[in-house]
Amino acid sequence: MSEPQENLTTIFQAATSSAAYIQSVVPEGLRAPSVGIICGSGLGGLVDTLEASPRVEIPYSDIPEFPRSTVVGHAGKLVFGHLGKELTPVVIMVGRAHFYEGHSIQKVTFPVRVMKVLGIKSIIVTNAAGGLNEDYKVGDIMILNDHINFPGLAGNHPLRGPNEESFGTRFPALSDAYDLEFRRTAHLAYRKLPGVSKTRSLKEGVYAFVSGPTFETRAECRMLRTMGADVVGMSTVPEICVARHAGLRVLAMSLVTNAAVLAPGPRGDEVLDDSNAVSGQLNKVIEAGKANHVEVLETGFEAAADMQALVRQFIDDISST
Ligand code: HPA
Repeated sequence: MSEPQENLTTIFQAATSSAAYIQSVVPEGLRAPSVGIICGSGLGGLVDTLEASPRVEIPYSDIPEFPRSTVVGHAGKLVFGHLGKELTPVVIMVGRAHFYEGHSIQKVTFPVRVMKVLGIKSIIVTNAAGGLNEDYKVGDIMILNDHINFPGLAGNHPLRGPNEESFGTRFPALSDAYDLEFRRTAHLAYRKLPGVSKTRSLKEGVYAFVSGPTFETRAECRMLRTMGADVVGMSTVPEICVARHAGLRVLAMSLVTNAAVLAPGPRGDEVLDDSNAVSGQLNKVIEAGKANHVEVLETGFEAAADMQALVRQFIDDISST
C-alpha cells in the first residue's frame, strides 16, 4: 500500500494490520502497553533503563507501513518492556519520522495510531527544541501546555481528509490537549528527583511547530516569540493532534538544546568602511548563537539522564495512583 494515509479508513486498516504484525512478534506479557513514549533526538537512552527481561525490540523497517527516520541520532526501533519501580508496561519509539524528511504528515503520525490500536491510554512525547523565551537556558526542560501548529494552520494537518470515527470525532478540541493533571504530576515528580542537575530548571510553556529543515531566521524567531511561543521545534505537534483525536492523555516535554537568535543581525549600511578586521568581528557576531544539529545532539546527550529520570518518576506516579 503506497499511500494508505490518503484515506483515513485505510489508515485504520493499515494501523490494525501493523498492530497485528507487532502482536505476532511480541511475547504475551508485553502485548498490552499502557503508556507509549516517543523519544526525541538523543533521548532514546530511556530504553536502556527498561527491565532487561522481558523486553523486545522491533526495527521500524520490519513493521508494515511504519515510516523510517533518516536523521542522524534517530535510530528507528519500537521497544516493548517494563519501566520503573511499578513495572509499567510501555512501548517506546526510539527515533521518529519528521515531516521535513519528505513523509506526509499522515505518515509521520501513523505510529501513534498503531500504538492506540495496541491499547495505550497515555502518550509521552519528547523532543529537542530551540529556546525563544529569554528566561530559558540551554539544558532546561519545558513541559508543553499549549502549541502553535504552523503547518497545520496552513493546511498540512494530520487529520485532514475523511474522518475515521474508529479513532475519534471530526472536530476534536485542542484547548485541553496538554493534560493538566499530567503536568501537575510531572512537576511534582521532578521535585522528587534527588540527582537532577541544579543548573537545569523545569519550565512550562508553548511549543511552536515549524516544518524545517532550516533552522529559523532571526526575524522568524522574533515573530514566533511575539506570537507567544516559548520554544520552537520540528516535531511533536502532529503526533499530539492524532493522539488527542484518538482520546489519549498527553504529556509532552522539550529539551532546550539551543537558544534561538532573536536579535537582528548587523545591517550592511552600518559597515560601509569595511576592513578585514571589521569583517572578522562581523563574522563572530553572525556566528554567535547560530543553531546547528551537532549542538542539538550534544545537549540532548548531557541532559538525557535527567529527562529519563523524570519520565520514569512520572510513569511510576501515574501508575501507582
Ligand atoms: N529550531 C527548530 N527546531 C529545533 C531547534 C531550533 O532552534 N533546536 C532543536 N530543534
